[in-house]
Amino acid sequence: MNILILGSGGREHALAWKLVQSSRVNKIFAAPGNAGTALSGVNLQIDPENFAEVRKAVSENAINMVIVGPEAPLVAGIHDFFLNDSYLRNIPLIGPSGKAAMLEGSKDFAKSFLVRHSIPTAAYRSFSRDAIREATKFLQTLEPPFVIKADGLAAGKGVAITSSLEEAEKELKEIGSGKFGEAGGKVVIEQFLKGIELSAFIITDGRSYKLLPSAKDYKRIGEGDTGLNTGGMGAVSPVPFASKGFMEKVRTRIIEPTLSGLAEEGIEYKGFIFFGLMNVSGDPYVIEYNARLGDPESEVIIPRIRSDLFDLMEGVATGTLAEKTLEIDDQYVATVMLVSGGYPGSYAKGHEISGLDSVKEALVFHAGTKLSDGKVVTSGGRVLAVSHHGRSLKEALDGAYSNARAITFKDIYYRTDIGFDLQ
Ligand code: AMP
Ligand code: GLY
Repeated sequence: MNILILGSGGREHALAWKLVQSSRVNKIFAAPGNAGTALSGVNLQIDPENFAEVRKAVSENAINMVIVGPEAPLVAGIHDFFLNDSYLRNIPLIGPSGKAAMLEGSKDFAKSFLVRHSIPTAAYRSFSRDAIREATKFLQTLEPPFVIKADGLAAGKGVAITSSLEEAEKELKEIGSGKFGEAGGKVVIEQFLKGIELSAFIITDGRSYKLLPSAKDYKRIGEGDTGLNTGGMGAVSPVPFASKGFMEKVRTRIIEPTLSGLAEEGIEYKGFIFFGLMNVSGDPYVIEYNARLGDPESEVIIPRIRSDLFDLMEGVATGTLAEKTLEIDDQYVATVMLVSGGYPGSYAKGHEISGLDSVKEALVFHAGTKLSDGKVVTSGGRVLAVSHHGRSLKEALDGAYSNARAITFKDIYYRTDIGFDLQ
């Protein structure tokens, strides 16, 4: 089997690393990939959002399955494009239809879905962009902290949480005047949930599902969860407080009502669902849905999957997931993200990375790297995810950090406190 993975981050490298271990996989392609995916397969310099280019790559490379990493092609309808094309129709694509991906692509859609199916979530109201005055009036009736979200995809920047009414009003005004373009066509104002976050992941063929390992990521740039939001600075799996009892609540109150809600509404879903959750005094609430795996959560989840991932993906594609088994390693895995100095603001690219050869025990997943004249150089904000197994969380974290210290590039930065709140 030849597989094409769309995307270019640590998540896609982890997928490629795992899939190439399957005896049923012949060749892996990644588009556009990075210097890490090039170790597991072949990179194709195409844009995952250019569906005509994807089609050409699928036919030229005799691809048998496509796995979509990031959300943008899903929300733009790549699944539907495949179903409507006489050649691509026969090539399974792992990832939901455009309608189903609206669970991630529109916060207003996700919130109304959650409420329709009585799934626990923060109370909310949504307003269209031309009703900002009404939104502001509503805001003034609430208690801080205020949670304001742009409706559409905003590359992780669409959520503002502030205890100042003035700042909240300013945010509304800016969304009203087009700060997020199309993504800010509507605005959601919601109740602030106090608790501790974690993420749950499933794969589903639309009928049955398998629960993947839980994970917790660390989104802020600074130690102690301070400073600007990033794509994620590190992650751990499993999450110690995601006990059997808590996960049972997640299954019965959140995962299963989500799947039955999708089925009731006639929305077919084949792929990953990422549930961003808040544990509020022992009860799970949905903060958000994502229509894909998380990054860097993938870099701790995928190394814990013992089963053949291709076999599971085939189960998703053919509607036979119920017949497949998912075996999970009970060790911990922690990952630390090495980033370019300046990220998530502006940063330089093209710095040579050294020390990769001296990493012996850890898994190094490439995020923002590329090959330049035979050398691996930085090419993004998040550069490398260093993942390590351990019998305890501490052992996993110590291993990730000792290997991370062996890697250097100019202006390297990483948080030294991943997992700080869990030990
Ligand atoms: P999102 O982009 O929806 O994941 O939101 C970004 C972050 O904002 C989340 O990871 C949470 O830390 C926080 N957040 C979002 N919604 C809420 C809420 N209703 N209450 C508390 N925190 C929230
Ligand atoms: N790490 C969060 C995300 O992938 O959205």
